[in-house]
Amino acid sequence: MAFERVGVVGLGTMGAGIAEVFARAGLRVIGVEADAEALARGRGHLERSTGRAVDRGRLIEAEREEILRRVTLTTSRDDLSDADLVVEAIPEILDAKVSLFEDLDRICKPQAVLATNTSSLSVTAVAAATGRPGRVVGMHFFNPAPVMRLVEVVGTVVTEPGVVEEIAGLARRLGKTPVTVGDRAGFVVNRLLLPYLNHAAVLLENGVAARDDIEAAMTLGAGLPMGPFALLDLIGLDTAYEVMCVLFDETRDRRHAPAPLLRELVTAGLLGRKSGRGFHGERVVRPEAGRASVVTYRVEGEGAGAVAERLAQAGFKTSDDPDVVLRLADRPVVEHAVRLPRPDVMVGVHLVGERVAEVAATALTSPAAVAAARDLMKVIGRTPVPCRDRAGFVVDALLYPYLNDAVRMIEAGYASIGDVDAAMRLGCGYPAGPVETMESVGLDRVRDGLRALYAEYREPSYAPAPLLDHLVAAGLTGFPRP
Ligand SMILES: NC(=O)c1ccc[n+]([C@@H]2O[C@H](COP(=O)([O-])OP(=O)(O)OC[C@H]3O[C@@H](n4cnc5c(N)ncnc54)[C@H](O)[C@@H]3O)[C@@H](O)[C@H]2O)c1
Repeated sequence: MAFERVGVVGLGTMGAGIAEVFARAGLRVIGVEADAEALARGRGHLERSTGRAVDRGRLIEAEREEILRRVTLTTSRDDLSDADLVVEAIPEILDAKVSLFEDLDRICKPQAVLATNTSSLSVTAVAAATGRPGRVVGMHFFNPAPVMRLVEVVGTVVTEPGVVEEIAGLARRLGKTPVTVGDRAGFVVNRLLLPYLNHAAVLLENGVAARDDIEAAMTLGAGLPMGPFALLDLIGLDTAYEVMCVLFDETRDRRHAPAPLLRELVTAGLLGRKSGRGFHGERVVRPEAGRASVVTYRVEGEGAGAVAERLAQAGFKTSDDPDVVLRLADRPVVEHAVRLPRPDVMVGVHLVGERVAEVAATALTSPAAVAAARDLMKVIGRTPVPCRDRAGFVVDALLYPYLNDAVRMIEAGYASIGDVDAAMRLGCGYPAGPVETMESVGLDRVRDGLRALYAEYREPSYAPAPLLDHLVAAGLTGFPRP
Protein backbone atom coordinates (compact mmCIF):
# COMPACT_ATOMS: atom_id res chain seq x y z
CA MET A 1 0.00 0.00 0.00
CA ALA A 2 1.25 3.49 -0.87
CA PHE A 3 0.94 5.83 2.07
CA GLU A 4 0.55 9.36 0.69
CA ARG A 5 -2.10 10.99 2.89
CA VAL A 6 -1.62 10.53 6.58
CA GLY A 7 -3.76 11.72 9.48
CA VAL A 8 -2.37 12.54 12.92
CA VAL A 9 -4.89 12.87 15.77
CA GLY A 10 -3.69 14.86 18.80
CA LEU A 11 -0.96 17.45 18.21
CA GLY A 12 0.58 17.58 21.68
CA THR A 13 4.12 16.62 22.73
CA MET A 14 4.22 13.68 20.31
CA GLY A 15 1.59 14.31 17.64
CA ALA A 16 3.03 17.63 16.45
CA GLY A 17 6.45 16.00 16.05
CA ILE A 18 4.96 13.00 14.24
CA ALA A 19 3.10 15.32 11.83
CA GLU A 20 6.40 17.10 11.18
CA VAL A 21 8.18 13.81 10.45
CA PHE A 22 5.57 12.80 7.85
CA ALA A 23 5.54 16.25 6.21
CA ARG A 24 9.35 16.33 6.05
CA ALA A 25 9.26 13.01 4.14
CA GLY A 26 6.94 14.58 1.54
CA LEU A 27 3.62 13.10 2.70
CA ARG A 28 0.38 15.09 2.95
CA VAL A 29 -0.67 15.40 6.59
CA ILE A 30 -4.08 16.08 8.11
CA GLY A 31 -3.58 17.09 11.75
CA VAL A 32 -6.66 16.81 13.98
CA GLU A 33 -7.07 18.38 17.40
CA ALA A 34 -9.87 18.39 19.94
CA ASP A 35 -10.71 22.11 19.73
CA ALA A 36 -9.55 25.40 18.26
CA GLU A 37 -7.35 26.30 21.22
CA ALA A 38 -5.49 22.97 21.15
CA LEU A 39 -5.19 23.29 17.37
CA ALA A 40 -3.48 26.66 17.78
CA ARG A 41 -1.07 25.09 20.29
CA GLY A 42 -0.36 22.28 17.82
CA ARG A 43 0.34 24.79 15.06
CA GLY A 44 2.68 26.62 17.47
CA HIS A 45 4.61 23.37 18.17
CA LEU A 46 5.06 22.75 14.43
CA GLU A 47 6.13 26.30 13.66
CA ARG A 48 8.60 26.46 16.54
CA SER A 49 10.13 23.07 15.85
CA THR A 50 10.67 23.73 12.13
CA GLY A 51 11.83 27.25 12.99
CA ARG A 52 14.52 25.80 15.27
CA ALA A 53 15.61 23.47 12.46
CA VAL A 54 16.11 26.54 10.23
CA ASP A 55 18.05 28.36 12.98
CA ARG A 56 20.33 25.34 13.33
CA GLY A 57 20.93 25.15 9.59
CA ARG A 58 19.14 21.80 9.20
CA LEU A 59 16.44 23.24 6.92
CA ILE A 60 16.26 26.28 4.68
CA GLU A 61 13.29 28.63 5.00
CA ALA A 62 11.77 27.54 1.66
CA GLU A 63 11.81 23.88 2.81
CA ARG A 64 10.20 24.88 6.07
CA GLU A 65 7.39 26.65 4.24
CA GLU A 66 6.90 23.62 2.00
CA ILE A 67 6.69 21.34 5.05
CA LEU A 68 4.12 23.57 6.74
CA ARG A 69 2.12 23.76 3.48
CA ARG A 70 1.84 19.97 3.42
CA VAL A 71 0.07 20.00 6.80
CA THR A 72 -3.66 20.75 6.96
CA LEU A 73 -4.95 21.44 10.46
CA THR A 74 -8.53 20.77 11.46
CA THR A 75 -10.82 20.02 14.39
CA SER A 76 -13.00 17.68 12.33
CA ARG A 77 -12.24 13.96 12.28
CA ASP A 78 -14.39 13.65 9.17
CA ASP A 79 -11.50 15.23 7.24
CA LEU A 80 -9.67 11.91 7.63
CA SER A 81 -11.99 10.06 5.24
CA ASP A 82 -9.44 9.68 2.45
CA ALA A 83 -6.33 9.14 4.61
CA ASP A 84 -4.25 6.01 3.86
CA LEU A 85 -3.02 5.88 7.45
CA VAL A 86 -4.05 7.60 10.68
CA VAL A 87 -1.69 7.77 13.67
CA GLU A 88 -3.33 8.54 16.98
CA ALA A 89 -1.42 10.52 19.64
CA ILE A 90 -4.06 11.54 22.19
CA PRO A 91 -3.48 11.02 25.96
CA GLU A 92 -2.60 7.58 27.32
CA ILE A 93 -6.15 6.67 28.40
CA LEU A 94 -7.62 3.46 27.03
CA ASP A 95 -11.29 4.55 26.99
CA ALA A 96 -10.42 7.70 25.04
CA LYS A 97 -8.42 5.73 22.48
CA VAL A 98 -11.10 3.06 22.09
CA SER A 99 -13.78 5.63 21.43
CA LEU A 100 -11.52 7.45 18.95
CA PHE A 101 -10.80 4.20 17.07
CA GLU A 102 -14.54 3.37 16.86
CA ASP A 103 -14.98 6.73 15.18
CA LEU A 104 -11.94 6.40 12.90
CA ASP A 105 -13.18 2.98 11.79
CA ARG A 106 -16.47 4.58 10.69
CA ILE A 107 -14.83 7.58 9.01
CA CYS A 108 -11.77 6.13 7.26
CA LYS A 109 -11.82 4.11 4.05
CA PRO A 110 -11.77 0.32 4.66
CA GLN A 111 -8.20 -0.25 3.43
CA ALA A 112 -6.72 2.53 5.60
CA VAL A 113 -4.35 1.43 8.36
CA LEU A 114 -5.10 2.80 11.84
CA ALA A 115 -2.11 3.14 14.15
CA THR A 116 -1.74 4.09 17.79
CA ASN A 117 1.30 5.84 19.25
CA THR A 118 0.48 4.40 22.67
CA SER A 119 3.47 3.84 24.96
CA SER A 120 1.95 1.02 26.94
CA LEU A 121 -1.72 0.32 26.30
CA SER A 122 -2.93 -2.85 24.61
CA VAL A 123 -2.92 -2.41 20.82
CA THR A 124 -5.10 -5.52 20.69
CA ALA A 125 -7.78 -3.84 22.83
CA VAL A 126 -7.74 -0.77 20.57
CA ALA A 127 -7.88 -2.99 17.44
CA ALA A 128 -10.84 -4.93 18.84
CA ALA A 129 -12.86 -1.69 19.00
CA THR A 130 -12.85 -1.55 15.20
CA GLY A 131 -14.31 -3.63 12.41
CA ARG A 132 -10.82 -3.95 10.89
CA PRO A 133 -8.63 -5.35 13.69
CA GLY A 134 -6.29 -6.78 11.05
CA ARG A 135 -5.37 -3.27 9.91
CA VAL A 136 -4.64 -1.79 13.34
CA VAL A 137 -1.05 -1.60 14.60
CA GLY A 138 1.11 0.27 17.06
CA MET A 139 3.42 2.86 15.51
CA HIS A 140 5.37 4.11 18.49
CA PHE A 141 7.58 7.15 17.94
CA PHE A 142 10.02 8.57 20.49
CA ASN A 143 10.33 12.01 21.93
CA PRO A 144 11.27 14.30 20.19
CA ALA A 145 9.83 12.52 17.14
CA PRO A 146 11.79 14.52 14.53
CA VAL A 147 15.08 13.62 16.26
CA MET A 148 14.81 10.09 17.65
CA ARG A 149 15.39 7.41 15.03
CA LEU A 150 13.50 4.50 16.54
CA VAL A 151 9.93 3.49 15.70
CA GLU A 152 8.51 0.44 17.46
CA VAL A 153 6.03 -1.25 15.11
CA VAL A 154 3.62 -3.35 17.13
CA GLY A 155 1.64 -6.19 15.57
CA THR A 156 -1.04 -8.14 17.42
CA VAL A 157 -2.24 -11.73 17.06
CA VAL A 158 -4.94 -10.48 14.67
CA THR A 159 -2.84 -8.17 12.49
CA GLU A 160 -3.12 -9.11 8.79
CA PRO A 161 0.02 -10.53 7.25
CA GLY A 162 2.03 -7.81 5.56
CA VAL A 163 0.64 -4.82 7.47
CA VAL A 164 3.48 -4.72 10.01
CA GLU A 165 6.05 -4.92 7.19
CA GLU A 166 4.28 -2.11 5.30
CA ILE A 167 4.39 0.16 8.33
CA ALA A 168 8.02 -0.80 8.98
CA GLY A 169 8.74 0.11 5.35
CA LEU A 170 7.03 3.46 5.84
CA ALA A 171 9.13 4.08 8.96
CA ARG A 172 12.26 3.51 6.85
CA ARG A 173 10.96 5.96 4.26
CA LEU A 174 10.70 8.51 7.10
CA GLY A 175 14.38 7.95 7.83
CA LYS A 176 13.63 5.91 10.95
CA THR A 177 14.76 2.48 12.10
CA PRO A 178 11.80 0.19 12.84
CA VAL A 179 11.91 -2.56 15.44
CA THR A 180 8.93 -4.89 15.20
CA VAL A 181 7.56 -6.39 18.40
CA GLY A 182 4.52 -8.10 19.84
CA ASP A 183 1.81 -6.47 21.95
CA ARG A 184 3.06 -6.32 25.53
CA ALA A 185 2.73 -3.36 27.93
CA GLY A 186 5.56 -0.90 27.32
CA PHE A 187 6.97 -2.81 24.30
CA VAL A 188 10.78 -2.76 24.47
CA VAL A 189 11.81 0.76 25.39
CA ASN A 190 9.20 1.82 27.91
CA ARG A 191 9.22 -1.58 29.56
CA LEU A 192 12.92 -1.00 30.29
CA LEU A 193 13.03 2.79 30.64
CA LEU A 194 10.00 3.74 32.72
CA PRO A 195 10.68 1.40 35.68
CA TYR A 196 14.16 2.97 35.88
CA LEU A 197 12.72 6.51 35.85
CA ASN A 198 10.13 5.51 38.45
CA HIS A 199 12.87 4.00 40.60
CA ALA A 200 14.78 7.29 40.46
CA ALA A 201 11.67 9.04 41.81
CA VAL A 202 11.48 6.45 44.61
CA LEU A 203 15.16 7.04 45.55
CA LEU A 204 14.50 10.78 45.63
CA GLU A 205 11.38 10.35 47.70
CA ASN A 206 13.22 8.05 50.14
CA GLY A 207 16.01 10.57 50.56
CA VAL A 208 18.75 8.26 49.19
CA ALA A 209 20.12 11.21 47.22
CA ALA A 210 19.05 14.68 46.08
CA ARG A 211 17.54 15.50 42.69
CA ASP A 212 20.55 17.16 41.11
CA ASP A 213 22.93 14.59 42.55
CA ILE A 214 20.92 11.76 40.97
CA GLU A 215 20.90 13.72 37.69
CA ALA A 216 24.70 14.13 37.86
CA ALA A 217 25.22 10.46 38.77
CA MET A 218 23.32 9.24 35.72
CA THR A 219 24.68 11.73 33.19
CA LEU A 220 28.31 12.31 34.26
CA GLY A 221 28.63 8.91 35.95
CA ALA A 222 26.60 6.44 33.87
CA GLY A 223 27.03 8.46 30.65
CA LEU A 224 23.32 8.81 29.83
CA PRO A 225 22.27 11.80 27.70
CA MET A 226 19.78 13.09 30.32
CA GLY A 227 19.18 12.61 34.00
CA PRO A 228 16.02 10.72 34.98
CA PHE A 229 14.15 13.79 36.22
CA ALA A 230 14.95 15.90 33.16
CA LEU A 231 13.73 12.99 31.04
CA LEU A 232 10.54 12.59 33.08
CA ASP A 233 9.89 16.30 32.58
CA LEU A 234 10.41 15.88 28.83
CA ILE A 235 8.12 12.86 28.60
CA GLY A 236 5.44 14.53 30.74
CA LEU A 237 4.79 13.31 34.27
CA ASP A 238 1.14 12.54 33.48
CA THR A 239 2.16 10.33 30.56
CA ALA A 240 4.85 8.63 32.66
CA TYR A 241 2.34 8.06 35.47
CA GLU A 242 -0.23 6.52 33.12
CA VAL A 243 2.41 4.22 31.60
CA MET A 244 3.47 3.03 35.07
CA CYS A 245 -0.17 2.28 35.93
CA VAL A 246 -0.53 0.17 32.78
CA LEU A 247 2.74 -1.66 33.47
CA PHE A 248 1.68 -2.36 37.03
CA ASP A 249 -1.73 -3.63 35.93
CA GLU A 250 -0.06 -6.10 33.60
CA THR A 251 2.81 -7.25 35.81
CA ARG A 252 1.65 -6.62 39.42
CA ASP A 253 5.37 -6.06 40.05
CA ARG A 254 5.73 -3.69 43.03
CA ARG A 255 8.55 -1.90 41.20
CA HIS A 256 6.02 -0.87 38.57
CA ALA A 257 3.73 0.85 41.05
CA PRO A 258 4.04 4.56 40.23
CA ALA A 259 6.12 6.45 42.79
CA PRO A 260 3.79 8.37 45.12
CA LEU A 261 5.85 11.49 44.37
CA LEU A 262 4.92 11.16 40.69
CA ARG A 263 1.22 11.06 41.52
CA GLU A 264 1.59 14.03 43.83
CA LEU A 265 3.27 16.19 41.18
CA VAL A 266 0.71 15.20 38.53
CA THR A 267 -2.16 16.02 40.87
CA ALA A 268 -0.55 19.39 41.59
CA GLY A 269 -0.49 20.09 37.83
CA LEU A 270 3.32 19.95 37.68
CA LEU A 271 3.55 17.90 34.47
CA GLY A 272 7.06 18.79 33.30
CA ARG A 273 7.98 20.86 30.28
CA LYS A 274 4.47 21.07 28.89
CA SER A 275 3.24 22.86 32.01
CA GLY A 276 6.49 24.76 32.65
CA ARG A 277 7.40 22.89 35.84
CA GLY A 278 7.80 19.28 36.97
CA PHE A 279 10.74 17.84 38.87
CA HIS A 280 12.68 20.83 37.64
CA GLY A 281 11.55 24.42 37.77
CA GLU A 282 12.86 26.95 35.32
CA ARG A 283 16.27 26.93 36.92
CA VAL A 284 18.45 23.85 37.20
CA VAL A 285 20.87 23.98 40.09
CA ARG A 286 24.38 22.92 39.05
CA PRO A 287 26.74 21.29 41.51
CA GLU A 288 29.11 23.92 42.86
CA ALA A 289 32.90 23.78 42.50
CA GLY A 290 34.92 24.07 45.67
CA ARG A 291 38.16 23.63 47.57
CA ALA A 292 38.97 21.06 50.17
CA SER A 293 39.10 22.09 53.79
CA VAL A 294 40.38 18.67 54.86
CA VAL A 295 43.62 18.32 56.70
CA THR A 296 44.18 14.59 56.98
CA TYR A 297 42.58 11.53 55.48
CA ARG A 298 43.10 7.85 54.80
CA VAL A 299 41.94 5.80 51.82
CA GLU A 300 41.25 2.09 51.99
CA GLY A 301 39.68 -0.60 49.81
CA GLU A 302 40.32 -1.66 46.23
CA GLY A 303 41.94 1.11 44.19
CA ALA A 304 42.94 3.11 47.27
CA GLY A 305 46.51 3.59 46.03
CA ALA A 306 45.55 5.54 42.91
CA VAL A 307 43.22 7.87 44.82
CA ALA A 308 45.81 8.48 47.54
CA GLU A 309 48.40 9.27 44.89
CA ARG A 310 46.17 11.87 43.21
CA LEU A 311 45.45 13.49 46.57
CA ALA A 312 49.12 13.46 47.54
CA GLN A 313 49.99 15.23 44.28
CA ALA A 314 47.47 17.91 45.25
CA GLY A 315 49.23 18.33 48.59
CA PHE A 316 46.88 16.38 50.86
CA LYS A 317 48.53 14.12 53.39
CA THR A 318 47.37 10.74 54.57
CA SER A 319 47.41 10.02 58.27
CA ASP A 320 46.43 7.23 60.62
CA ASP A 321 44.64 9.79 62.75
CA PRO A 322 42.52 11.24 59.98
CA ASP A 323 39.52 13.63 59.72
CA VAL A 324 38.00 11.27 57.19
CA VAL A 325 38.42 7.65 56.07
CA LEU A 326 37.48 7.09 52.45
CA ARG A 327 36.45 3.47 52.01
CA LEU A 328 36.43 2.63 48.30
CA ALA A 329 33.56 0.21 47.71
CA ASP A 330 30.46 -0.46 45.71
CA ARG A 331 28.64 -1.94 48.68
CA PRO A 332 27.49 -0.46 52.00
CA VAL A 333 30.42 0.38 54.26
CA VAL A 334 28.76 0.54 57.65
CA GLU A 335 30.19 -2.88 58.61
CA HIS A 336 33.70 -1.47 58.10
CA ALA A 337 32.82 1.72 59.98
CA VAL A 338 31.79 -0.10 63.14
CA ARG A 339 35.27 -1.65 63.39
CA LEU A 340 36.92 1.77 63.62
CA PRO A 341 37.62 3.52 66.92
CA ARG A 342 35.77 6.49 65.37
CA PRO A 343 33.05 5.18 63.04
CA ASP A 344 31.83 8.73 62.39
CA VAL A 345 34.79 9.48 60.10
CA MET A 346 34.11 6.71 57.57
CA VAL A 347 32.52 7.51 54.23
CA GLY A 348 31.89 5.04 51.39
CA VAL A 349 33.28 6.16 48.04
CA HIS A 350 32.35 4.58 44.74
CA LEU A 351 34.13 5.91 41.67
CA VAL A 352 31.77 5.84 38.68
CA GLY A 353 33.29 6.25 35.22
CA GLU A 354 35.91 8.99 35.04
CA ARG A 355 33.93 11.91 36.42
CA VAL A 356 31.75 10.95 39.36
CA ALA A 357 32.32 9.72 42.91
CA GLU A 358 29.37 8.56 44.97
CA VAL A 359 29.94 9.58 48.57
CA ALA A 360 27.89 7.40 50.90
CA ALA A 361 27.15 8.37 54.48
CA THR A 362 26.33 5.60 56.96
CA ALA A 363 23.97 6.06 59.89
CA LEU A 364 27.09 6.94 61.95
CA THR A 365 28.95 9.28 59.57
CA SER A 366 29.34 12.86 60.76
CA PRO A 367 28.35 15.75 58.48
CA ALA A 368 31.94 17.01 58.71
CA ALA A 369 33.31 13.74 57.30
CA VAL A 370 30.81 13.83 54.42
CA ALA A 371 31.78 17.44 53.63
CA ALA A 372 35.47 16.50 53.73
CA ALA A 373 34.95 13.51 51.43
CA ARG A 374 33.03 15.65 48.96
CA ASP A 375 35.81 18.23 48.92
CA LEU A 376 38.47 15.58 48.37
CA MET A 377 36.56 14.12 45.43
CA LYS A 378 36.43 17.58 43.84
CA VAL A 379 40.19 17.83 44.30
CA ILE A 380 40.66 14.72 42.14
CA GLY A 381 38.33 16.15 39.49
CA ARG A 382 35.20 14.20 40.28
CA THR A 383 31.66 15.42 40.88
CA PRO A 384 30.64 14.10 44.28
CA VAL A 385 27.21 12.48 44.55
CA PRO A 386 26.28 12.35 48.23
CA CYS A 387 23.97 9.45 48.99
CA ARG A 388 22.95 7.05 51.71
CA ASP A 389 24.88 3.87 52.44
CA ARG A 390 22.59 1.47 50.55
CA ALA A 391 23.34 -1.46 48.22
CA GLY A 392 24.16 -0.09 44.77
CA PHE A 393 24.30 3.50 46.07
CA VAL A 394 22.67 5.50 43.23
CA VAL A 395 24.10 4.45 39.87
CA ASP A 396 24.16 0.68 40.28
CA ALA A 397 20.82 0.69 42.10
CA LEU A 398 19.26 2.40 39.09
CA LEU A 399 21.25 0.72 36.35
CA TYR A 400 21.43 -2.94 37.34
CA PRO A 401 17.70 -3.68 37.66
CA TYR A 402 17.26 -2.10 34.22
CA LEU A 403 19.96 -4.40 32.82
CA ASN A 404 18.34 -7.38 34.53
CA ASP A 405 14.96 -6.46 32.99
CA ALA A 406 16.65 -6.48 29.57
CA VAL A 407 18.04 -9.98 30.20
CA ARG A 408 14.58 -11.22 31.20
CA MET A 409 13.08 -9.69 28.06
CA ILE A 410 15.64 -11.49 25.90
CA GLU A 411 15.25 -14.70 27.88
CA ALA A 412 11.47 -14.59 27.35
CA GLY A 413 12.04 -14.34 23.60
CA TYR A 414 10.17 -11.02 23.35
CA ALA A 415 12.98 -9.27 21.51
CA SER A 416 16.42 -10.18 20.22
CA ILE A 417 19.69 -8.91 21.71
CA GLY A 418 20.24 -6.72 18.65
CA ASP A 419 16.73 -5.25 18.80
CA VAL A 420 16.93 -4.49 22.52
CA ASP A 421 20.28 -2.74 22.14
CA ALA A 422 19.17 -0.83 19.03
CA ALA A 423 15.90 0.19 20.69
CA MET A 424 17.63 1.76 23.70
CA ARG A 425 20.27 3.49 21.59
CA LEU A 426 17.88 4.88 18.98
CA GLY A 427 14.82 5.40 21.18
CA CYS A 428 16.56 7.00 24.17
CA GLY A 429 19.84 8.23 22.71
CA TYR A 430 21.78 5.95 25.09
CA PRO A 431 25.44 5.53 24.13
CA ALA A 432 25.08 1.74 24.39
CA GLY A 433 22.28 -0.80 24.66
CA PRO A 434 21.84 -2.83 27.88
CA VAL A 435 23.62 -5.94 26.58
CA GLU A 436 26.54 -3.85 25.33
CA THR A 437 26.63 -2.13 28.74
CA MET A 438 26.68 -5.45 30.61
CA GLU A 439 29.47 -6.75 28.40
CA SER A 440 31.59 -3.69 29.07
CA VAL A 441 30.90 -3.55 32.82
CA GLY A 442 31.41 -7.32 33.18
CA LEU A 443 28.61 -9.87 33.43
CA ASP A 444 29.94 -11.13 36.75
CA ARG A 445 29.99 -7.64 38.23
CA VAL A 446 26.40 -7.00 37.19
CA ARG A 447 25.35 -10.39 38.56
CA ASP A 448 27.10 -9.73 41.89
CA GLY A 449 25.63 -6.23 42.09
CA LEU A 450 22.14 -7.64 41.54
CA ARG A 451 22.71 -10.23 44.24
CA ALA A 452 23.69 -7.45 46.66
CA LEU A 453 20.59 -5.44 45.74
CA TYR A 454 18.42 -8.50 46.18
CA ALA A 455 19.99 -9.28 49.54
CA GLU A 456 19.28 -5.74 50.74
CA TYR A 457 15.79 -5.12 49.36
CA ARG A 458 14.46 -8.69 48.86
CA GLU A 459 12.80 -7.44 45.70
CA PRO A 460 12.13 -10.56 43.59
CA SER A 461 12.90 -8.84 40.29
CA TYR A 462 16.38 -7.82 41.57
CA ALA A 463 17.41 -11.48 41.67
CA PRO A 464 19.73 -12.04 38.70
CA ALA A 465 17.87 -13.40 35.67
CA PRO A 466 18.68 -17.12 35.21
CA LEU A 467 20.29 -16.42 31.81
CA LEU A 468 22.73 -13.97 33.40
CA ASP A 469 23.54 -16.41 36.20
CA HIS A 470 24.14 -19.20 33.69
CA LEU A 471 26.39 -17.11 31.45
CA VAL A 472 28.53 -16.17 34.44
CA ALA A 473 28.56 -19.77 35.70
CA ALA A 474 29.70 -20.89 32.24
CA GLY A 475 32.57 -18.41 32.44
CA LEU A 476 31.32 -16.38 29.46
CA THR A 477 32.03 -12.67 29.23
CA GLY A 478 29.47 -11.95 26.50
CA PHE A 479 26.01 -12.97 25.38
CA PRO A 480 25.88 -15.68 22.71
CA ARG A 481 24.57 -14.19 19.47
CA PRO A 482 23.08 -16.33 16.71
N1 LIG B 1 5.42 12.04 25.81
C1 LIG B 1 6.22 11.13 25.34
O1 LIG B 1 7.44 11.17 25.54
C2 LIG B 1 5.65 10.01 24.51
C3 LIG B 1 6.52 9.23 23.75
C4 LIG B 1 6.00 8.23 22.93
C5 LIG B 1 4.63 7.99 22.94
N2 LIG B 1 3.82 8.76 23.72
C6 LIG B 1 2.37 8.47 23.65
O2 LIG B 1 1.80 9.40 22.75
C7 LIG B 1 0.46 9.68 23.15
C8 LIG B 1 0.32 11.18 23.33
O3 LIG B 1 1.15 11.60 24.39
P1 LIG B 1 1.68 13.10 24.52
O4 LIG B 1 2.76 13.08 25.51
O5 LIG B 1 1.89 13.68 23.17
O6 LIG B 1 0.37 13.77 25.20
P2 LIG B 1 0.01 15.33 25.23
O7 LIG B 1 -0.87 15.49 26.43
O8 LIG B 1 1.22 16.18 25.13
O9 LIG B 1 -0.85 15.55 23.88
C9 LIG B 1 -2.10 14.95 23.66
C10 LIG B 1 -2.86 15.84 22.68
O10 LIG B 1 -4.05 15.17 22.29
C11 LIG B 1 -5.09 16.12 22.19
N3 LIG B 1 -6.37 15.43 22.29
C12 LIG B 1 -6.96 14.92 23.40
N4 LIG B 1 -8.12 14.32 23.05
C13 LIG B 1 -8.26 14.46 21.71
C14 LIG B 1 -9.23 14.05 20.77
N5 LIG B 1 -10.31 13.35 21.15
N6 LIG B 1 -9.07 14.36 19.47
C15 LIG B 1 -7.98 15.06 19.06
N7 LIG B 1 -7.01 15.47 19.91
C16 LIG B 1 -7.15 15.16 21.22
C17 LIG B 1 -4.82 17.09 23.33
O11 LIG B 1 -5.43 18.34 23.08
C18 LIG B 1 -3.28 17.17 23.29
O12 LIG B 1 -2.83 18.21 22.44
C19 LIG B 1 0.21 8.87 24.41
O13 LIG B 1 -0.41 7.67 24.06
C20 LIG B 1 1.60 8.64 24.93
O14 LIG B 1 1.70 7.50 25.74
C21 LIG B 1 4.29 9.76 24.48
